[in-house]
Amino acid sequence: MSQAPIDRGRWKTRIGFILAASGSAIGLGNIVFFSANAYKFGGGAFYLPYLLALFAIGIPVMMLEFGLGSKTGRAFPEALHIVAGKKGEFVGWWGILNAGFLTMYYITILSWVLGMLIGSFGALWQPTMAVPAFDIPEGVLPTATAYFFQMLTTAKPLIFVVIVWALNVLIIRRGVQSIEAVTKVFVPLMWIFMAILIVRGVTLPNGTQGVYLLFTPNFDVMKDPAVWQGAFSQIFFTLSLGFGTMVAYASYLPKNSDLAGNSFVTSFLNCGFEYLAGLAVFSVLFAFAIVPQASTLSMMFFIVPQGIAQMPAGVQLFGIVFFLLLLIAGLTSSVSLIEGIVSALRDKFGWARGKTIAVAAGIGVIGSCMFALPQVVDPGLENNGTIGLTLLDLIDHWVFSYGLLAIGLAQCILVGWVLGASKIRAYINENSSTRIGPWFDVLIKFVIPAALAFILGYSLYNEFQNGLYGMAYNENYREGAEFMRAAPVAVLMVWFLTSTFVALLLTKRGNYAQES
Ligand code: ALA
Repeated sequence: MSQAPIDRGRWKTRIGFILAASGSAIGLGNIVFFSANAYKFGGGAFYLPYLLALFAIGIPVMMLEFGLGSKTGRAFPEALHIVAGKKGEFVGWWGILNAGFLTMYYITILSWVLGMLIGSFGALWQPTMAVPAFDIPEGVLPTATAYFFQMLTTAKPLIFVVIVWALNVLIIRRGVQSIEAVTKVFVPLMWIFMAILIVRGVTLPNGTQGVYLLFTPNFDVMKDPAVWQGAFSQIFFTLSLGFGTMVAYASYLPKNSDLAGNSFVTSFLNCGFEYLAGLAVFSVLFAFAIVPQASTLSMMFFIVPQGIAQMPAGVQLFGIVFFLLLLIAGLTSSVSLIEGIVSALRDKFGWARGKTIAVAAGIGVIGSCMFALPQVVDPGLENNGTIGLTLLDLIDHWVFSYGLLAIGLAQCILVGWVLGASKIRAYINENSSTRIGPWFDVLIKFVIPAALAFILGYSLYNEFQNGLYGMAYNENYREGAEFMRAAPVAVLMVWFLTSTFVALLLTKRGNYAQES
């Protein structure tokens, strides 16, 4: 099957591209996942592996993805097809499907953010709240936690899922043209909201103590490979690498773009924002002596709101600013994830934009609703409480800690060895203001694949030695919900087998236009 080339569109300006790419990168990962990971791995212990991962892995892989997208002018699967034939295309589709799972639960999280935003106009700040669905009386849980779990047990998040998907569809309906227009407003707004939160955080009594925690290194923890896995996964997630997103965005660039410069600017904007967000979050926690748990979602939904609730003035205002920031930062990321998928399907099948969006959003809404299922299965709230949150927690483990790194590894091997790292470097250097040297080839061919393979191998070995992720929940399910004991294995199988079989099917179906 071959088709006429589709009209893919072009970014109007360089600044438009930078705003869209940094909008893709800056998201929930920056505002809360970074702080939660940094706390989990001992504050200052995290930033050295993180910085190393940024310079040795993040920036070179971003250059590779920008180079691949711009050189081929195609989305991830076709770009890898051009590089390495069918096996490359298979890797590309596998990455797109992994990103598809991620998009589904990312949008569910955004739907909860929308629910919390609505709550922050009033209900979230009442002194106490009961959670009838879990038989938890008033005063037992902090209000933000109670509000969140109560919301989860209702059908409201299902409605919010549809609203957030509709917003995404609205933003991507005209491709780069509408994405560029929206990110031009949203991304500067994100920086303004973040500035408001930082100024408030660090001017609270003891607020600056949080800054010390983030910057005091703890070298002991760095011997633990889990810290490195955390840093590597965080870098891929936060820079939107291994999703096919940056390849798609770069495929809409004019050929004479400064790819090295764009990679540096996007990465530094993203990681600068991430550090500033860390300062804002940690200063609030320190000011109110709140000890975060090592869970990314709890940081966003209970811990930070708990701090905001204790502010001397303007609680409602800061709550609204925080959740609005999460919502718009999340939207500029989710649209990029969806665009990566839509452009891959359009390249392959030559479908009209509207039809492709309808297919992607139709499947996506169903998936996002699965992660918002409100049935209570863990009444003691030992773990995740509802079916939806449990499924989300389980799939996030595989997508975030394994899927992204596996795709990163495969694309470095394909581009580094099959195409040749020096070829993509020469292409990047053609129009870049900063010339990248042969160090790039060494990183892409040897260092990054070796580091990723080691971390993936070590983590998998541990996983099977110490028990599959989520198996420890087994004791907590309520009578009648024992079927959830199968969830850890079922979710792993669904994620892995769906990605593999659907990627195989898509790869086998027909050829791309330029082959005819
Ligand atoms: N890069 C996006 C984020 O950090 C996905 O949320």
